[in-house]
Amino acid sequence: MAAPGLAVAMVVVVLLGSGGARAVSVGDTCSSEGDCGAGLHCSDCGGDKTCTRATPINPLTHGTGLPFNNYSWLTTHNSFALTGASSATGSPIITQTNQEDTITAQLKNGVRGLMLDTYDFNNDVWLCHSFQGICYNMTAFQPAINVFKEIQTFLEANPSEVITIFLEDYTASGSLPKVFNASGLNKYWFPVAKMPKSGGNWPLLKDMISQNERLLVFTSKKSKEASEGIAYEWSYVVENQYGNGGMVEGKCPNRAESPAMDSKSQSLVLMNFFTTDPSQTGACGNNSAPLVSMLKTCHDLSGNRWPNFIAVDFYMRSDGGGAPLATDIANGHLANSTFGTCVIPPPPPPSPPRKAPSGKGASAGGSGSSSGAMGLFVPKLSFFFGAALQVLVILSY
Ligand SMILES: *[C@@H]1O[C@H](CO)[C@@H](O)[C@H](O)[C@H]1NC(C)=O
Ligand SMILES: *[C@@H]1O[C@H](CO)[C@@H](O)[C@H](O)[C@H]1NC(C)=O
Ligand SMILES: *[C@@H]1O[C@H](CO)[C@@H](O)[C@H](O)[C@H]1NC(C)=O
Ligand SMILES: *[C@@H]1O[C@H](CO)[C@@H](O)[C@H](O)[C@H]1NC(C)=O
Ligand SMILES: *[C@@H]1O[C@H](CO)[C@@H](O)[C@H](O)[C@H]1NC(C)=O
Repeated sequence: MAAPGLAVAMVVVVLLGSGGARAVSVGDTCSSEGDCGAGLHCSDCGGDKTCTRATPINPLTHGTGLPFNNYSWLTTHNSFALTGASSATGSPIITQTNQEDTITAQLKNGVRGLMLDTYDFNNDVWLCHSFQGICYNMTAFQPAINVFKEIQTFLEANPSEVITIFLEDYTASGSLPKVFNASGLNKYWFPVAKMPKSGGNWPLLKDMISQNERLLVFTSKKSKEASEGIAYEWSYVVENQYGNGGMVEGKCPNRAESPAMDSKSQSLVLMNFFTTDPSQTGACGNNSAPLVSMLKTCHDLSGNRWPNFIAVDFYMRSDGGGAPLATDIANGHLANSTFGTCVIPPPPPPSPPRKAPSGKGASAGGSGSSSGAMGLFVPKLSFFFGAALQVLVILSY
């Protein structure tokens, strides 16, 4: 028998040896999630699996002194339709899926826009896909309240974070208020009365945070704004065509319900970029260069406005930077006019340790980080050195 210290060292060496060095950077090969560093995902995009970004730079690192419409938020299309999920009815799911991790995991990764389809089903409101307008057991994921409670838990634990929900709403009037109330989300409700009516600026992010009005909810049903106080999305948001029609290079047409992309009566811009038939491997390619290219196209065709919400399928998949990078680029332009100058964030002062304003945020790339992907290399390198140091310590034991 080898001495215990040596045995530990050998295990470490074997772990490191299998499949090459421990992958910590974007583009490194990986075999499972744990192989990639914080904020990264081990993506299977054909060929070797590689580490891809799952997390954008937290827009709050740009400061919170700008209007809400000067920030861009990573958004998941059909956030609830998870690959491999079974229906809470007990039925297997037989419908399209669009994401791969829970709402809680998405929020932890920095997703701040959620697109949810709500239906009256089983005497409750469910998140569902429909077949000709009807929700069935095999297309019903789970009661909406479960996900609303996940959102409530996150908002409670992260007092500086703001979340936006886009409802593709098939429920009758009266259904949603009950569920929102029961979930505890009313406490964070951003009132319709404070939303700019004719394209003006939104309140400052810091004021939304200090007033605890940190949940924006938009519905696709116009009547509910007057009857239930849920904002009618296209009075405030312009949105391009979803599905294949929104992926034609050089074009950024509005979806039928939305005003024209360059309408200045709405001050928020939402960019959809996902195929009609969701595909995990398709998302690998589409969430890469084509997404960044469409970002520019939609900017140019939306009255020179960068999208505030960037909505994709399988948000963790790409050839590297993906939707998180696209979000960083938009934020670089929206929240910081000095974007483009390559600013390396200064190292944080060694002491005294600054208190983060919330449970999150301060770690995402340094407070000075502002220019696209640059800030991201800092946590990754330190992670690498941390891991290397640990191995040295173990080896020398
Ligand atoms: C923009 O970035 C620069 C450089 O990092 C920083 O000094 C400045 O405060 C930022 N401005 C805003 C509005 O975030
Ligand atoms: C759908 O699921 C419910 C349980 O939530 C069950 O009672 C019902 O029988 C199921 N319907 C069908 C058609 O399978
Ligand atoms: C809202 O929830 C509170 C308790 O959480 C309850 O007392 C009240 O009846 C609910 N209102 C509606 C309209 O459901
Ligand atoms: C985009 O997705 C479609 C559908 O899955 C796929 O056929 C196409 O190859 C993808 N585009 C890229 C650039 O990978
Ligand atoms: C806010 O966004 C607008 C574009 O929508 C831009 O013109 C303006 O410069 C931004 N403000 C700051 C302080 O970056």
